[in-house]
Amino acid sequence: MLINQQKDFSFLWVGKNKDSRHIIRMSPTEGTILHMLSVQATTRIVEIGRYKGGSTFILCKSSRKNIPVISIDSCESLEPNKNIEPPNYLQNFIELKKLTFINKKSEEVYIERPYDLILIDGDHSFTGVSTDVKRYWLNLIKGGKAIFHDYWSKKGVRRVVDSLLKHKIGTEITLVEPTTTTTPSNKKNNDIVVIQKETELDPSIKL
Ligand SMILES: C[S@@+](CC[C@H](N)C(=O)[O-])C[C@H]1O[C@@H](n2cnc3c(N)ncnc32)[C@H](O)[C@@H]1O
Repeated sequence: MLINQQKDFSFLWVGKNKDSRHIIRMSPTEGTILHMLSVQATTRIVEIGRYKGGSTFILCKSSRKNIPVISIDSCESLEPNKNIEPPNYLQNFIELKKLTFINKKSEEVYIERPYDLILIDGDHSFTGVSTDVKRYWLNLIKGGKAIFHDYWSKKGVRRVVDSLLKHKIGTEITLVEPTTTTTPSNKKNNDIVVIQKETELDPSIKL
């Protein structure tokens, strides 16, 4: 069952079939992948790009109680209201100290502690994604997972991810049909790719 059909999560989508993006910027398939990976997290979760907090909600709600979630966002998309207060559906996680907001650009943040799941969904340009990978790969534990959103729709994301795969820095473990080997026709429902970390980044390799 896709996650948008579950009572606790359905408010993130609207419409007759609860499949139109509302609070979340992901399709039900993508949200379900996020949920499945969050359930498996064992250390800590980092999110780059929160927007209205739809993906943040899934990361918090689906992971175990003792798994901290750190959510980084420059908050530039929230203009003109610039309301950076956590929305009510995230308040509880903040009060329980499970969720921490960092309202800064990802390139200004360094997370010292290890994590085993990271969602990269902030600046989708080639420079933005490669900067995030270079900055956040080190503390992603070996075997940990990096989720990249907008793999098909954003060239910059594809370039960085394909480079990680080509150099065997990571392997693809997307939980639906492997995105990189299917046509882009299903990209509306699945524009996500999940990479498992295999090795550290070699500075001599150009991403
Ligand atoms: C596509 S939205 C995230 C959607 C969210 N993950 C979801 O699925 O509901 C991208 C977010 O990334 C943020 N962003 C853009 N560039 C950023 C950067 N360099 N550092 C941190 N956040 C950034 C924007 O402010 C925006 O809120």
